[in-house]
Amino acid sequence: MIGRLNHVAIAVPDLDAAAEQYRSALGAQVGAPQDEPDHGVTVIFIELPNTKVELLYPLGDASPIQGFLDKNPAGGIHHICYEVDDILAARDHLLATGARVLGSGEPKIGAHGKPVLFLHPKDFNGCLVELEQV
Ligand code: CO
Repeated sequence: MIGRLNHVAIAVPDLDAAAEQYRSALGAQVGAPQDEPDHGVTVIFIELPNTKVELLYPLGDASPIQGFLDKNPAGGIHHICYEVDDILAARDHLLATGARVLGSGEPKIGAHGKPVLFLHPKDFNGCLVELEQV
């Protein structure tokens, strides 16, 4: 059901410093910051030949990233995103297997303008999983 790895997301305590490190130390192609108020984050995408890295920084007072950074002050891997062809079919299949979908269970529009859902990390070996319909 899942397809390509779309991105790995890393929560960072300093977005400018992280972007600069990927640009100059790792020599990566680093995009511009984008605010995503619906998700409570500012993101920067780093384009790699085979996938992307998403740098996440809290936006607003109720950002879901803030709690993660409180527990992991140096930052850390926050989620991984797999591509699916049909997000509603994927969701219904996962629910039937007993997996928990976060939030209302309805897809939201993600950073690439495509529908996304998040799956409970406790159901996936401690890893928050994002599904993106491509
Ligand atoms: Co993501």
